[in-house]
Amino acid sequence: MNYKLLDGKETSKQIKEEIAEEVKQIISKGGKRPHLAAILVGNDGASETYVAHKVKACEQVGFKSSLIRFEDTITEDELISKIKEINLDEDIDGLIVQLPVPKHISEEKIIETVSPEKDVDGFHPINIGRMTLGMNAFVSATPQGIIDLIQRYNIKTSGKHCVVIGRSNIVGKPVSILLSQKSNTGNATVTLCHSRTTNLKEICKQADIVIAAIGKQGFVTEDMIKEGAVVIDVGIHRVKSDKTKTGWKLKGDVDFEKVAPKCTYITPVPGGVGPMTIVSLLKNTLIAAKKK
Ligand code: GUN
Repeated sequence: MNYKLLDGKETSKQIKEEIAEEVKQIISKGGKRPHLAAILVGNDGASETYVAHKVKACEQVGFKSSLIRFEDTITEDELISKIKEINLDEDIDGLIVQLPVPKHISEEKIIETVSPEKDVDGFHPINIGRMTLGMNAFVSATPQGIIDLIQRYNIKTSGKHCVVIGRSNIVGKPVSILLSQKSNTGNATVTLCHSRTTNLKEICKQADIVIAAIGKQGFVTEDMIKEGAVVIDVGIHRVKSDKTKTGWKLKGDVDFEKVAPKCTYITPVPGGVGPMTIVSLLKNTLIAAKKK
């Protein structure tokens, strides 16, 4: 099959241009520049890269951004105090705390401390609850990025069988809810598979749309995919490579080379879901700023 790429890089560029234009309009009318604050605790390599991308994306669309860094020796109380201070800061519209946080800090407590009005990551139970009920909410960035990519490529979800692999709070769980929601980008029949699913291969093979978010490199193989399926790969893994200057390259949860020829559409890694995720964060920050 002649597959088409779901080009997240190009799509996110278009959306960023739309956001940048809206920011210009807001500023020209005397409005406030949207402001995202990001808290980064410790020196985790992947988190450093993600946060750097987020800060750069803010610059590209004309947002203000503040990166607040702490050593991994910071106490839970100190971190909570900082979050409460930002919750009250009138100039800051959106706040994210990059996860994971060190083990001595409760992720749950941190997520619950961020004000739901500034929770542009959409991780707070209030936002997840509202999203689940189909109410206005900040939807977390990766699930929203997947939905936007599907929508921009006019991929029909209504009545389709979507198989989501992985049940994380950040991706699998929310994207399964969004796809089954009564909405233009939902109305799908969704099966949520995970590490305890016994007949995963057979279930996957029935899917019109597969969302791979299991966190295992090359997990989805061609024998799991129906001819003509749409495959969306959320995985990001660094693998050794002697063909690149850095000595590594990025791979997804899907064995792209083998799976792609069976697909109508497939996301590349990198350049698929990743850039869409960042754009969703920008969109949420813009919404938070406009609510003021
Ligand atoms: N860690 C991995 N993904 C994310 C994300 O979307 N937001 C935050 N804050 N941390 C993450």
